[in-house]
Amino acid sequence: MSDTNEELRVSKIRDGTVIDHVTGGQALNVLAILGIDGEGDETVSIGMNVPSDKLGRKDVVKVEGRELSQSEVDVLSLIAPEATINIIRDFDVVDKNRVERTTSVTGILVCPNHNCITNADEPVRTEFEVFDNGVRCSYCGTIVREGDVAERIDARGVGETAL
Ligand code: CTP
Ligand code: ZN
Repeated sequence: MSDTNEELRVSKIRDGTVIDHVTGGQALNVLAILGIDGEGDETVSIGMNVPSDKLGRKDVVKVEGRELSQSEVDVLSLIAPEATINIIRDFDVVDKNRVERTTSVTGILVCPNHNCITNADEPVRTEFEVFDNGVRCSYCGTIVREGDVAERIDARGVGETAL
């Protein structure tokens, strides 16, 4: 019972990405950022509220056969600032990076202002400047507070795909 090793919960993967040290409770928002809704054919494993020495409780998301785009990582840094991105190849961790908070995020988030040019019929890709407690739309100036960022993730999981 003393073992807090998550391996007991979520098995190792051969190839793909492990997003580790995700803030407890944020795993489903991580999936939304990655545009994963169960409709695709990716194999995904999730650990929620796994005991962690560093964070107390953490979430872990393992996506097989897939790496993350920079804009996905940028948005991830807003909701899971302690996350580490581990690239797995043939069962080995070949790369490990902490997410870094960036000055702006493009795509993935939707501007709450319906009149914003990014919500027009021929949409412009969204861009938000990141500041201490939230993000600001570069086109119309609408502010999304940090706690509300998760609600503004594009449910369509646009990611890197051009509209
Ligand atoms: N992992 C995995 N499949 C593999 C290798 C690793 O799912 N084939 C996962 C581990 O379960 C862990 C993460 O990838 O969640 C990072 O692995 P590793 O660096 O071996 O773990 P730690 O040393 O505990 O990482 P950290 O120091 O970042 O906590
Ligand atoms: Zn806007």
